[in-house]
Amino acid sequence: MQAIKTRNWNGIVREFQEFLPKVKDDSIVTLREGNTPLIEALNMGALFGNGLKIFLKYEGLNPTGSFKDRGMTMAVSKANEDGSHAIICASTGNTSAAAAAYAVRGGLRAYVLIPEGKIALGKLSQAMMHGAKVVQVQGNFDEALTIVKEVSKAYPVTLVNSINPYRLEGQKTAAFEICNQLGFAPRYHFLPVGNAGNITAYWRGYKEFKEKGIIENLPKMMGFEAEGAAPIVKGHPIKNPETVASAIRIGNPSSWEAAVKARDESGGVIDMVSDDEIIYAYKLLAKEGVFCEPASAASLAGVIKMHKRDIFKNGDTIVCTLTGHGLKDPDTAIKSSDKPITVPPELDKVVKVLGF
Ligand code: F0G
Repeated sequence: MQAIKTRNWNGIVREFQEFLPKVKDDSIVTLREGNTPLIEALNMGALFGNGLKIFLKYEGLNPTGSFKDRGMTMAVSKANEDGSHAIICASTGNTSAAAAAYAVRGGLRAYVLIPEGKIALGKLSQAMMHGAKVVQVQGNFDEALTIVKEVSKAYPVTLVNSINPYRLEGQKTAAFEICNQLGFAPRYHFLPVGNAGNITAYWRGYKEFKEKGIIENLPKMMGFEAEGAAPIVKGHPIKNPETVASAIRIGNPSSWEAAVKARDESGGVIDMVSDDEIIYAYKLLAKEGVFCEPASAASLAGVIKMHKRDIFKNGDTIVCTLTGHGLKDPDTAIKSSDKPITVPPELDKVVKVLGF
C-alpha cells in the first residue's frame, strides 16, 4: 500500500514569500500558521434556502487559535531580523496570546497590556503560559493602545499592534488562501470589525491577487461591528464600548480610515449587529460543528441581517471569517448553552435522564 502523502505546510511567511516583505530565512519565527480550512455551511438551509453558498474560513485553527498568528509571524520575524529583543502590544486578548507565543518561540520578551477583567479566560491563560509580562489596565483597549504606542516610542521595544505594517501584510494571506481554496474570490466577504485591521488586510490581499491576474473579480467587503462598540457605523469614537464579543470591544479603531476605504472601493458595507444577534449566530455556527468565539460570529450575524434586507442573489458565494476559536471563551459558551444534568452513577437514573 502506498503511504498517503501529506505536505508539511511551512507557515505563511515562507509559503507566500513572493507576496510579502522579504525576511531572511533564519530570522523567520513561525508555528506553521495559516492553511486553515474553508468549510461549507451545510445546516443553514432552513434559514437561507439553498440558493446561497456560505463558507466558513476557520481561523480558530491557527496555532494560538486566532487569525492573529498570520500577522504575528510576520511582525515578530521582522522584529527578530532587525535585532529587537522585545515586543509590546495592547490587546482584547488574541493579539496578546499570539504575541506571547511568537515572542517566546523566537527568544524575544513580550509585554502585553489588557483591559482588566475584559478578556476571555482562554486568551489570558495563553499569554500567562507563554511567559509574557501581562499588565492588566484598569481601562479599556483604546486606553491601553495609547499607552503602548508611547512606550514603544520611548523604549527599545517593538510595537506589534496592527499599526505595525508587517501585521497587515501577514494577515492578507487569508484572502490568498480563500481564493486558492474556492478557485475564485467570493462575491461577499463578511467579517467582524474591531480595530479594523483585518478588513483592511483582506481587501489588500484580494486586490493583489486581482492585480496579478489570479482572480477576475473582487468581493464586496462586509464588516460588522458590535452595536455597543460601533464607532465606524456611528461616525464617532465610542468612549465606553460594551459588548459580549469582548474581542471587538473597541471604541476608536486604528485602521478606521483604511477600513472605510476597503468598504467604499469594494462596494461593501460596514454595519453593526446586536449582542443577541451575535449569540444567535454563535449558536447557529455551533450547529455546523464549528466552534468559534462570539466576536467571530458577528460575521454570520451580518449575513443574517443582510439576508433579511434581501441583498443576495441565488448562487452567491459568501465567505465568513471565523476569527477565533470557541475554546478561547468557555464562559460565554457555557452561559449560552443548556446546563448538563447531574445524576448518581446508577444505570436507571442515567437512562431516565437520557430519555430512552
Ligand atoms: N475577531 C477576533 C476574535 C479578534 O480577536 C479581533 C481583534 C477581531 C475579530 C477584530 O479584528 O481588530 O482586525 O478588526 N482582536 C484584537 C486583539 C483587537 O487585541 O486581539 P480587527
